[in-house]
Amino acid sequence: MTSDTAEVRQILDMNAYRPGDSAAAAVDRRLANLGAASVLFYRRPIEMAEAKGAWMTATDGTRYLDFYNNVPSVGHCHPEVVAAVSRQIARLNVHTRYVVEVVDDYLEALKAALPAPLGNVVMTCSGSEANDLAIRIARAATGGTGVIVTETAYHGNTALVTEVSPSALKRGSLPDWVIAVPPPSAAHHGNDIAAGFRASIEAALAEFAARGIRPAALLVDSIFSSDGIFADPAGFLAPAVEAVRAAGGLFIADEVQPGFARTGDAFWGFARHGVTPDMVTMGKPMGNGFPMAAVAARPDDLAAFCADTGYFNTFGGNPVAAAAGAAVLRVIAEEGLQANAQRIGGLLRARLRETAARDGRVSDIRGAGLFIGIDLADGSGRPDPALTVRVIDAMRDRGVLIGAAGRYGNTLKVRPPLCLGEDEAALFAEAFEAALA
Ligand SMILES: Cc1ncc(COP(=O)(O)O)c(C=O)c1O
Repeated sequence: MTSDTAEVRQILDMNAYRPGDSAAAAVDRRLANLGAASVLFYRRPIEMAEAKGAWMTATDGTRYLDFYNNVPSVGHCHPEVVAAVSRQIARLNVHTRYVVEVVDDYLEALKAALPAPLGNVVMTCSGSEANDLAIRIARAATGGTGVIVTETAYHGNTALVTEVSPSALKRGSLPDWVIAVPPPSAAHHGNDIAAGFRASIEAALAEFAARGIRPAALLVDSIFSSDGIFADPAGFLAPAVEAVRAAGGLFIADEVQPGFARTGDAFWGFARHGVTPDMVTMGKPMGNGFPMAAVAARPDDLAAFCADTGYFNTFGGNPVAAAAGAAVLRVIAEEGLQANAQRIGGLLRARLRETAARDGRVSDIRGAGLFIGIDLADGSGRPDPALTVRVIDAMRDRGVLIGAAGRYGNTLKVRPPLCLGEDEAALFAEAFEAALA
């Protein structure tokens, strides 16, 4: 959906607390501590106490079904992750300048889930660091500098990565080495999203050529989370990747959001599109809350970067992170969470489509597995961010946490833990229907 009239939203401002919204002492205390960099959910922020599985409990005892936080992806405070982290931190925690078995065991388990050519993994502490490093590797490997992203992309918070995150910019414009293209949506590309998306990448490449800039990479989140969640038809990414490679650039799949089985169809979002990225970046669900992230790259590309620049990350790849990451991989396999994401996500989308058939304000349902976008529109089909905020608040009042995404902030971003049960999916659907009423 596009609109001439709707205001473009900044991702961190969606559904966020604004000064003066709440008089709670705990909120004042937070603002005094974090100042202008504070980003709190909800106009009346929630003071959280604890969480388990798909549920969070506030200090006032209210329980919330968590459909927002995709970091604790195998379930909040999963006992196997808690035990693995506790065991390792009581034994040894140090950086990667020593050989520690648990780290290499983990890296091998992770590589087994990645395409074989991506034989090296550099561990970082955040998705931002991973994308920052991936861009620098792409530049070293290609000799180019240009990066193509989507127009509402968010790839992180370092100086470099903020420049390729149009949705984080409050003012100003992108540097000349960044071109943002429309998302792979039916609204932009009609029935042939694959051809339309490829054409927009080719136009960006032509623009780089006109500017005298060689491309280094196409960097996309493979489910286009902050653009509004665009998953289908699976395969649409392949022609765009082909185009960027033909021009000498690399394809970096940002799996920070869709990775680790969330899309149900595959372990990684890019795999749904039948492409093998030149680099994969990952983070958020990787440690189920333990801060860890990584870049997987081909050894020769990484070597090209390291020939000029040393790279060391004090906390990246520490044994506790490796223990957390290994526990996450085990839990996903042992509990069949990819299949669960596919099954429960399918049921939920079917139920949401029934709601959409009854209520024209639910203008589109998209997604894969347990990553679903719900577009909300006004009576004339235009994006309705005000309705979206009302629905978000009404769902919170019914004990369900959900956030927004998309260029106009009118897409509900559905990302519950992958351990979600049928009953919990039904609770969400009921709360959504009641919030619309
Ligand atoms: C797609 C994507 N890439 C990268 C990042 C940055 O990750 P981090 O916040 O861990 O630095 C985010 C964070 O929201 C993200 O959504």
